[in-house]
Amino acid sequence: MNLFEKYGGSSFWSEFLNTWYSRVTCSDSLSNFFSRIKIEDVKTILLGILESTLISEGNYPKDVLGDIHKRMNISDSDFNIWKKIYESILNDMGISNEDSEKILTLIEGYRSCIVSIT
Ligand code: HEM
Repeated sequence: MNLFEKYGGSSFWSEFLNTWYSRVTCSDSLSNFFSRIKIEDVKTILLGILESTLISEGNYPKDVLGDIHKRMNISDSDFNIWKKIYESILNDMGISNEDSEKILTLIEGYRSCIVSIT
């Protein structure tokens, strides 16, 4: 059973993604990145986050993530905040420590294709 199924499938993960989106868009540091996103593109981003974290298990193509993010001037500190938000939701929604560590490790593996400034 994969992590998607283990925690209750689409209803659980859609709550997870909604919480994630509201926290990144309320974050003082990250909200600017999302300020021009159109409502119809939100679903694509949410599904992309699900795909890159849970479904591909860290094997989402790095060149694609690089193309999307490199021109956004994302710093290491932005990335750390993004990851902290993700971690806080894993905790709040009761994901086991073992599964959280696994997901956070694979997110860390994307750092080099997301971050473009120091
Ligand atoms: C500070 C960190 C990050 C910021 C500020 C950020 C910001 C954004 C923004 C603004 C978009 C929308 C782009 C657009 O439609 O023009 C986006 C798309 C996306 N992000 Fe990030 N991102 C970050 C980290 C990550 C990480 C760590 C992952 C993977 C785990 C990720 C995966 C994706 C995916 C898969 C999409 C888009 C999907 C698509 O259009 O198909 N992002 N991101």
